[in-house]
Amino acid sequence: MKKITENTILVTGIAGFIGFHVARKLLEEGHKVIGIDCVNDYYDVTLKEARLKLLHDNHGDLLTFYKINIENKEDVEKVWKSANPKITHVVHLAAQAGVRYSLVNPYSYISSNVMGHLVLLEMARHQKDFEHFVYASSSSVYGSNEKMPFSESDPVNQPMALYAATKRCDELMSYSYSHLYGLPTTGLRFFTAYGPWGRPDQALFIFTKKILAGDPIPVFNYGKMKRDFTYIDDIRDGVLAALRHIPKKTEKSLPQEVYNLGNSGVSTLTSYIQLIEENLGKKAILDLQPMQPGDIPAAASDITKARKNLGFDPKINTETGVKNFIEWYKDYYKVD
Ligand SMILES: NC(=O)c1ccc[n+]([C@@H]2O[C@H](COP(=O)([O-])OP(=O)(O)OC[C@H]3O[C@@H](n4cnc5c(N)ncnc54)[C@H](O)[C@@H]3O)[C@@H](O)[C@H]2O)c1
Repeated sequence: MKKITENTILVTGIAGFIGFHVARKLLEEGHKVIGIDCVNDYYDVTLKEARLKLLHDNHGDLLTFYKINIENKEDVEKVWKSANPKITHVVHLAAQAGVRYSLVNPYSYISSNVMGHLVLLEMARHQKDFEHFVYASSSSVYGSNEKMPFSESDPVNQPMALYAATKRCDELMSYSYSHLYGLPTTGLRFFTAYGPWGRPDQALFIFTKKILAGDPIPVFNYGKMKRDFTYIDDIRDGVLAALRHIPKKTEKSLPQEVYNLGNSGVSTLTSYIQLIEENLGKKAILDLQPMQPGDIPAAASDITKARKNLGFDPKINTETGVKNFIEWYKDYYKVD
């Protein structure tokens, strides 16, 4: 496939789940990448370091990594100015993720997700010939929306948790930078990414670990929670397709877009657990619990817009995706 740019692509959150997969693909395609991440301890730091090591071992010639915090304007500016060739594309994925943790440590969401987002927008808008700012939003912006599946044209004014509010804030800030400075921005509303090298705070990871240990698993909303689980390779391909598709300013519209990246199919938590049990060959002990504050009972994506504009075409169903995750988990943690 044709290269996105001969310049440098900045990937923030490169030690994270999605950042790692996106950077790996960009490096495989021969792009020069600068990665930044503060490698915080929200979850197991050794997993983040293992992801970084894999990127370095295979693509050390194309990758430069900086352990910095995106809230720190001076540090980000230094990295930005040191880029050679210059940065013309950003994939901004660094954030404090997780809905439930935003009730525990709300300040980290404002500093990373709002201030950090502003710092990167500022860098991009001052860069001459800058081409495209792609950033992570979230399906959680749909909040209490009851119309399923969620479409980009639906109202997104009722975030159910601070995490969702910061992601909506990112979309609004990006919109205003597209309006004020003509900055091309694309926001991606991810619907529950899962797969190998995944996040230890997510259901699939927690369930697998607990089932193997013989511990009960907490099942919120009594297992009736519905999610659009989207396999990481599909998410990654959607991010790359979006990066290639730069929104243009027209008489009627700003150079900005927002897309759902989901799997357009919905699984209940219970069916997801059954798949994990089948792959582990072990039954789960269920600890049925009510809905958690801030959570939404269901999320399903309408991906018509991403299909049409980006050629986004998710291919991996949950049967294959969960199987691939469990194989990776057993290999990585050396489980018999
Ligand atoms: N994984 C999903 O299902 C999902 C769903 C919706 C939205 N998202 C969004 O996608 C993006 C990537 O998510 P992920 O699943 O890879 O999460 P992740 O936690 O694995 O990765 C985020 C990375 O950002 C880094 N980071 C956090 N704050 C930082 C800061 N202030 N400065 C520098 N680095 C910082 C962390 O160390 C981490 O490595 C995030 O913006 C997240 O909110 C993810």
